[in-house]
Amino acid sequence: MLVLGIESSCDECAAALVADGTRLLAQKVSTQIPIHSPYGGVVPELASRDHVRRIVPVVEQTFEQAGAELSECGGIAVTAGPGLIGSLLVGVMAAKALAWSLQKPLVGVNHLQAHLRSIFLERDFSYPHLGLVVSGGHTSLFRVEGPDRLKPVGRTLDDAAGEAFDKVAKLLRLSYPGGVSIERLAEKGNPHAFRFPRPMPGKRLDFSFSGLKTAVAVRVKKEGLPAGDALCDFAASFQEAVVDTLVKKTILAARKEKLSRILVAGGVAANSRLRTRMQEQAGAEGCQVAFPPVPLCTDNAAMVAALGHCLLTTGKNDGIMLDADAGLSWDAN
Ligand code: KG4
Ligand code: ZN
Repeated sequence: MLVLGIESSCDECAAALVADGTRLLAQKVSTQIPIHSPYGGVVPELASRDHVRRIVPVVEQTFEQAGAELSECGGIAVTAGPGLIGSLLVGVMAAKALAWSLQKPLVGVNHLQAHLRSIFLERDFSYPHLGLVVSGGHTSLFRVEGPDRLKPVGRTLDDAAGEAFDKVAKLLRLSYPGGVSIERLAEKGNPHAFRFPRPMPGKRLDFSFSGLKTAVAVRVKKEGLPAGDALCDFAASFQEAVVDTLVKKTILAARKEKLSRILVAGGVAANSRLRTRMQEQAGAEGCQVAFPPVPLCTDNAAMVAALGHCLLTTGKNDGIMLDADAGLSWDAN
């Protein structure tokens, strides 16, 4: 079955066509990075207004790219939450209108569950496994029993890891999204040059990144903005503190849940230092570690279509159900 996925929960307006839940035929991602860059973060009102402009062309271009007719689509999946409410509403309303006009089934999907499904566009990955969703809005650990069966085991108590990357990048006057610019500088830096705190050490599975962000801010205030080699060292040391924390807590969670498979997804999963260190350290513990392909780590609609396919074909929706509603926050279980 050919499923159209639509994603508009934050600052990417995206559509994708996926066959049988695993074969990506076409996708279009319209990024709003140039719109939000001057502010160093996403401005919700600007995001939703741009989604309104982009949603129809993005869907049209996806069908064009696939060489497919609208009538060939067997169902529609749309991100219904969590996310920015104005942005979510645009995607959900577009999906409802399309489902109604085509008389095709519609399913609203959870954005976090969709991130954790993105791996299936590249390869199979058995359940149960430990899932870490690490992005601009979330840093959450789940025991993943199935595509939509998640038990939360840990989460951030304040900032998400991606948010910490973005805020620290803004402080260092680097471009948005912060994770990308920090990673680029960090490649040339020494990760042990500066000692930043490892937040929430110990046995708890929750994260906290606001203290780390404050430690960075205090240092910059005291010593001024680093430049040249020192800026690379600074970026590498900050990145190392985040990566250290993510790797340690994830391994701890896998041990506690007695799981030997780990899946890391979300925008920060694109980070090469995180990918390397998680593979090395969790691998040394006997865990099998998987990351989605880098282009599918950040927000996209392929993951939405992939999850939508599972739900549509397992009877979660069997008809024109227009009850997909945008939700500000939605527990992923
Ligand atoms: O999954 P995503 O596209 O959107 C949310 O669901 O939040 O994640 C975006 C986040 C941003 O905070 C961005 O700075 C971060 O992912 N990010 C990265 C990298 N690429 C994107 N963080 C670290 N390293 C990267 N290479
Ligand atoms: Zn996301």
